[in-house]
Amino acid sequence: MKELKIIPVHIGIIMDGNGRWAEKRNLPRIAGHQEGIEAVRRTVQSAVKYNIKYLTLYSFSTENWKRPKEEIEFLFSLMEKNLIKEGENLHKNNIRVRFSGRRWELPSKLIEAMEYVENLTKNNTGLNLIFAINYGGRAEIIDGIKEIIKSGYRSEEINEELMSKFLYLPDVPEPDLIIRTSGEKRISNFLLWQSAYSEFYFTPVLWPDFDEKEFLKALFDYQKRKRKFGGVIYKK
Ligand code: FPP
Repeated sequence: MKELKIIPVHIGIIMDGNGRWAEKRNLPRIAGHQEGIEAVRRTVQSAVKYNIKYLTLYSFSTENWKRPKEEIEFLFSLMEKNLIKEGENLHKNNIRVRFSGRRWELPSKLIEAMEYVENLTKNNTGLNLIFAINYGGRAEIIDGIKEIIKSGYRSEEINEELMSKFLYLPDVPEPDLIIRTSGEKRISNFLLWQSAYSEFYFTPVLWPDFDEKEFLKALFDYQKRKRKFGGVIYKK
């Protein structure tokens, strides 16, 4: 058995392929999202098991509003129901649930469910589970710039450190590893600022089929990477 020695602190996941999973089975797309929830559950369990400190799941992008109204409504109601249903369970597991994105544009019932789990789990010290909902990397940078201007900073004071402080969750470290399922090899507006030096792992597995075995494959692949952050690695 191979040994896991280097573990990413923060993993981001682009959960892709729900629609294709359903189409392959002649089911409506929403059946793929429903099954995707099971993969979310398994992945959260894996993240706890392998001591990941931050897990960000790309759940709804600022571009996803282009989808049919029925699919969007289904997704929001699925999120709302599962947040309420799993709240206590997440809390018992010492998981702190957080959200990233333009929350104010979401339906009020979903916002209430988000606030409920956020408050319930706010003092927990285990896994930070972040759902990116109505999230876009460009929107996040724009929203940050607006706040910087409102706060009265002068142009000479603006630098990368300041910009980082004005992102949605400034205390969350940048992702070490970004996983995308379903064979697509794109960033799709996910954590644009924060992924400057992230490692990427792409798998053809569709999101509803993603499980602990696949999660571990990504972890083993990650530990082979030599991270240089733009510098060089000196041999001693
Ligand atoms: C991508 O598949 C998946 C999504 C856009 C939604 C994923 C969201 C969840 C699984 C819910 C998250 C849960 C909570 C509790 C917040 P796709 O539809 O783009 O698949 P396709 O590319 O095959 O069409």
